[in-house]
Amino acid sequence: MKQRRSVRSFSNKPIPQPVIENCIKIAASAPSGANMQPWSFVLVKNKNLKKKIREEAEKVEKIFYTKMVTKEWRNKLEPLSTNFRKPFLEEAPYLICVFAQRYGIDSKGNKVKHYYVNESVGIAVGFLISALHQLGIGTLTYTPAPMTFLSKILKRPVNERLYIILVVGYPKKNNKPPRLKKKKLDELLTTL
Ligand SMILES: Cc1cc2nc3c(=O)[nH]c(=O)nc-3n(C[C@H](O)[C@H](O)[C@H](O)COP(=O)(O)O)c2cc1C
Repeated sequence: MKQRRSVRSFSNKPIPQPVIENCIKIAASAPSGANMQPWSFVLVKNKNLKKKIREEAEKVEKIFYTKMVTKEWRNKLEPLSTNFRKPFLEEAPYLICVFAQRYGIDSKGNKVKHYYVNESVGIAVGFLISALHQLGIGTLTYTPAPMTFLSKILKRPVNERLYIILVVGYPKKNNKPPRLKKKKLDELLTTL
């Protein structure tokens, strides 16, 4: 797991869909508040749809990078060399769009309460990233702001909110993640 790094440059080497589906099954085995499993996954592999998502994402990213980003945030992003262009949204063979269900809907159309939705979906995404990584498959946790455009494109129900887009594929041969420092154990662990 210590070898895992976010990938922003993907090869077009195909990945069989059942491999991805198995990893999503692992994600869906994660613990969740009162076992409500408040998540939905949309697997996007269609080229035209990926192109559309890239176009819409770049529209909001352009506004983010020119108007919304604070100086402090920009400084923090600098080592990552990111900008408004998101070619990986078309390069990668799959985009796994993870939705958080704010509440469930039963067979009669009644609302069902979900508990600890953010925590539960976050853990499931952790499982998903780990499962893919164990197979040598790279991921990028991608969160354009705002993300509402995707719910519209993917025609998701009103109880769902996009949690993240997980960009999935093998890293390009020359992919080199930025040099980043991770905190040492003594900076983050208190043993009592
Ligand atoms: C919740 C979350 C949102 C993120 N959003 C983005 C994003 O929108 N674009 C991006 O390039 N990276 C994004 N990242 C990736 C982080 O920049 C990356 O995890 C961090 O720099 C550490 O690098 P590493 O994953 O290689 O260890 C996100 C990561 C997390 C956990």
